Amino acid sequence: MNRVADKFNRPLRDLRISVTDQCNFRCSYCMPKEIFGPDYAFLPKGAMLSNEEIIFATRSFAKLGVKKIRLTGGEPLLRPDLSELIAGIANDTGIEDISLTTNASLLPRYAQKLKDAGLKRINISLDSLDTERFAQMSGGRSSPEAVLRGIDAAEKAGLPIKINMVAKLGVNEMDVLPMVNYFRERRITLRFIEFMDVGETNGWKMDQVIPAKQILETIGSRYEFEPVDPDYRGEVASRYRFTDTGSEFGIITSITNPFCGNCNRARLSAQGKLYTCLFATAGTDLKKRIRDGIDQEEFTNFVSKLWISRDDQYSEDRSNGKALNGTKKVEMSYIGG
Ligand code: GTP
Ligand code: 5AD
Ligand code: SF4
Ligand code: SF4
Repeated sequence: MNRVADKFNRPLRDLRISVTDQCNFRCSYCMPKEIFGPDYAFLPKGAMLSNEEIIFATRSFAKLGVKKIRLTGGEPLLRPDLSELIAGIANDTGIEDISLTTNASLLPRYAQKLKDAGLKRINISLDSLDTERFAQMSGGRSSPEAVLRGIDAAEKAGLPIKINMVAKLGVNEMDVLPMVNYFRERRITLRFIEFMDVGETNGWKMDQVIPAKQILETIGSRYEFEPVDPDYRGEVASRYRFTDTGSEFGIITSITNPFCGNCNRARLSAQGKLYTCLFATAGTDLKKRIRDGIDQEEFTNFVSKLWISRDDQYSEDRSNGKALNGTKKVEMSYIGG
């Protein structure tokens, strides 16, 4: 094992892999339908990494200290050979913690198969239980009922679940308490995500962010809760526990309280580029190296060098007024969040 640390002494622990740039939803904050319309050119299959290529890359990341793989998209369940990929990662890379972030619409069909393949956990996006506001957030696709059926299927398959709710001022702030009420009862952890300035297409404005403080006040008006220590260094969400039920909720405060100091995440995009920050403007083409026939050890060394030279801390820089200007950030649907 050759563990690595970047310029701020942050280890490499998580690898987020986007397995497709396509999605069957059109969330306004991720793939707004005005831009990702019928003529949008998604990646052809050959431009994306194959399962074998992802597994090859993952083996090297594991050697460098990665303990957790998160499969994302777009919508990862749109990838036809996803279960085979999970089985391959579980059997051939030594990584045990394999999780998935999904919109849940296809889980009734796949949850058990994914679990059988080796999936350990699942995070599900749901922004509202109200039909109209759900449609407004998801670009008019699917319904809260369909997502709830997906949640039921994941529960039935025995997958631990967290729910992600993106909170946007003027759109779904009235859903904070109904979502808390519902998931508290079901003993499922709900996490609020501050609307983030990812990519260049979601029209992000600071005045559309619901700050964590406001969310905590809203929840506090109804329930008592206390902070919980992070499970591990670098956990993305700040955690809280309801004092009566003991169930938890969380907030991901990328805007009002950035957490770059402990960021140990690398991102492999659907087209095989490595990004060392969610807000990166450029990635390094790993696919080309893999297709040129690089051997495993050379590839491990190559990734190691990339990590050692990493100095990203975009959210901190944005908070300090130092954000990039004039350079295009990669879209969420390529990099998977
Ligand atoms: P857990 O392992 O369950 O804690 O998952 P996670 O929170 O790391 O993953 P998930 O895919 O559920 O992401 C939740 C939200 O956190 C998404 O909006 C991600 O874009 C965001 N997120 C994850 N990692 C980072 C990060 O390094 N920086 C920022 N700014 N946001 C992140
Ligand atoms: N801001 C905050 N969260 C976002 N997500 C996608 N785009 C954004 C954004 N602009 C969330 C999704 C999903 C996770 C991977 O990222 O809702 O839960
Ligand atoms: Fe699809 Fe998830 Fe993006 Fe929504 S946030 S468009 S469900 S990838
Ligand atoms: Fe990590 Fe970049 Fe997010 Fe900061 S902004 S936590 S460096 S991914």
